[in-house]
Amino acid sequence: MPFEPKMLAACQIIKAIPNSGRKPSPFPEFSDNLNSDNMNQAYAEITAWSGYKPTPLVSLDKLADFCGVRSIVYKDESKRLDLKSFKALGGAYAVAKLAADQVALGIDPKTITVTTATDGNHGRSVAWGAKQAGCQAEIYIHEQVSLQRANAMAAFGAKINRISGNYEASLAACKKDAATNSWHIVSDTSWKGYREIPLDIMAGYSVMGRETLDQMEMAKPSHCFLPIGVGGMAAGIVASFWRDAGAELGKMIAVESFMSSCFLNSIEAQMPCLVDISEETLMAGLSCGEISDLAWQVLQPSLHHCLSITDDAIAALMAGFANGSFGGGSIEAGECATAGVAALLAAKNDPVLWKSLEFGPNSIVLLIGTEGATDPVIYDSLLAEGQG
Ligand SMILES: Cc1ncc(COP(=O)(O)O)c(C=O)c1O
Repeated sequence: MPFEPKMLAACQIIKAIPNSGRKPSPFPEFSDNLNSDNMNQAYAEITAWSGYKPTPLVSLDKLADFCGVRSIVYKDESKRLDLKSFKALGGAYAVAKLAADQVALGIDPKTITVTTATDGNHGRSVAWGAKQAGCQAEIYIHEQVSLQRANAMAAFGAKINRISGNYEASLAACKKDAATNSWHIVSDTSWKGYREIPLDIMAGYSVMGRETLDQMEMAKPSHCFLPIGVGGMAAGIVASFWRDAGAELGKMIAVESFMSSCFLNSIEAQMPCLVDISEETLMAGLSCGEISDLAWQVLQPSLHHCLSITDDAIAALMAGFANGSFGGGSIEAGECATAGVAALLAAKNDPVLWKSLEFGPNSIVLLIGTEGATDPVIYDSLLAEGQG
């Protein structure tokens, strides 16, 4: 047995739902959502940032041998622009665009304040983007956001406002103070009448998909596991792949915590559904109870399956990545970055699901490693638990 039986047993899928609304079709070039224009613009601007370089695409050959597939590749976002997560591509890009638009109107960037509610990673990107653009940042966090994540945002000069209650409470406070003070909200999720900035953020994330296609060359992913919070990251990646492959798009598989499976519930009902989160998953970036409607428009016709998983395997999988157990050497994988491999190994344990996902010896599997040690204290303690 190449992997510890304890680790394999901990990989659990709570629910798997095929998407009855999936329609294989050419990429729709949405007029008011992701399209070639906004994705190309994001690519041109982000790739011109100083310090930009594509994150590594690592081959997990030992994991591929174990699963009996042709290859498994892992997009390692722990190396993204010193922010340790793909989020660097979204919030910071939206802030840069917003600041440039304001400067074009003759407004001094120092007088602009951007604000957002966050679980940590998105706020870090907004705070970093504000620092680069010379604006002020006011960040709203809920009571569960870790001190290290708060400190990382403050280190970029952002003012941190901790709100009692959950994410929704922090968002309500952010919206209220933004209205009172004429601040610019830079949210990674859309709502009625608020689409432009979350669309820029998704266009920023699409850069990750385009890099991956360039790195994979002719080998297109037959399966891609996408960790989901509000769905923006998945929409950005899927749009890049869909534009490239058209109706031949591979199987796009959403992975959520069972504690916040708002996309799975929405796909099951074929309409947007809320989850009232009563317990927070360790995968903090996935703890979202409401989908982004912009992301829904891209993902509802394109997802193949939605899976929900438990937290049980996180520590063991983080240790597996750090120890090089999956191939590709030692990899710094944070909590959310384990979601894809947890779902893959759980599916491997379930012959019916494995068959319905049509895995076989020619499968080329892509895992999105969305973060590294974004909270070093949590990372070290989970790693010690996994290695113990
Ligand atoms: C590390 C990490 N992975 C995945 C996600 C999910 O991304 P989205 O909310 O765009 O679905 C997040 C969101 O914050 C995150 O921080």
